[in-house]
Amino acid sequence: MIVLGLESSCDETGVALYDTERGLIAQQLHSQIDLHAAYGGVVPELASRDHVRRMPVLIRQALAEAGVSMAGLDAIAYTAGPGLAGALLIAAGTGQALAATLGIPALPIHHLEGHLLSPLLADDAPAFPFVALLVSGGHTQLMRVDGVGRYALLGESVDDAAGEAFDKTAKLMGLAYPGGPVLARLADQGVAGRVKLPRPMLHSGDLNFSFSGLKTAVMTQLRDASIAPADMAAEFQAAVVDVLVAKSLAALKQTGLSRLVVAGGVGANQALRARLNEATARRRQRVFYPEPALCTDNGAMIAFAGALRLLDGEGEGEGGAHAVAVRP
Ligand code: KG4
Ligand code: ZN
Repeated sequence: MIVLGLESSCDETGVALYDTERGLIAQQLHSQIDLHAAYGGVVPELASRDHVRRMPVLIRQALAEAGVSMAGLDAIAYTAGPGLAGALLIAAGTGQALAATLGIPALPIHHLEGHLLSPLLADDAPAFPFVALLVSGGHTQLMRVDGVGRYALLGESVDDAAGEAFDKTAKLMGLAYPGGPVLARLADQGVAGRVKLPRPMLHSGDLNFSFSGLKTAVMTQLRDASIAPADMAAEFQAAVVDVLVAKSLAALKQTGLSRLVVAGGVGANQALRARLNEATARRRQRVFYPEPALCTDNGAMIAFAGALRLLDGEGEGEGGAHAVAVRP
């Protein structure tokens, strides 16, 4: 069975084809970074208009890449949310219209479920059950994953998401959009510990996070001109990573599981990966990541999540109920 996956929740238009026999057979992605850079952040109206322009082109390119015709599709999976309201409508409208025309199921997929399952696309995929650390621009959650659609929330951010904290702090420091990866690169040139930032909720005794105070702490300390921006970036990154690592290890301990899956854009952060790899190796636990290209938003994770649901026997109309099992 071949599933077309459509993603348009934020500033990437993603289209991919997943074949349940052969795996990923096409991946097309268009990033709107250049479009939004001048504004220092995503402009929702511009994002929606660009998705409308790009989506049909990417669909044609994906079909050509795989040598598949529209008639060869068995289902269409699209990101149902969460995301920018207007932007989401492009994948939803396109997916539902195409599916209705072709007489095949349209599968609404929760964006976070896409991220959550993306490490399963790797050659060395984790087996269920596992703990997932979802760290994106909009969410920071720890989940217990027992199978497709069987997710239990263990903890989450009570305010800003980790990626949001990276982006907002980068903006405060006058770094270019998109801030997260730019701040991470600057951090690699600095030394953590020369400035002191808090580790919020490190000892809260639960698996929740809080990152908004970190941004305020950076803002206060930035008034001291003697602090090198690279040292501030390094300490900020160390603070976020310390908390993410400690809570992930606590989630493994609490659940008694030995596999940790990291998903979402912040999962691309090299400092986070290095610390998690080291900490889990010492405890005979293992950590799994999606391929770097699949860490941030893409159509492949949506096509894949749709294919798993189709294999599970899910057709049109049922997807929504399962798809919202992960809390937005
Ligand atoms: O998963 P994603 O592409 O989009 C959402 O669903 O939010 O994640 C984007 C987030 C942004 O906040 C971005 O700054 C952050 O991931 N990000 C990073 C890195 N690469 C992307 N944060 C820290 N270090 C990175 N290397
Ligand atoms: Zn995402």
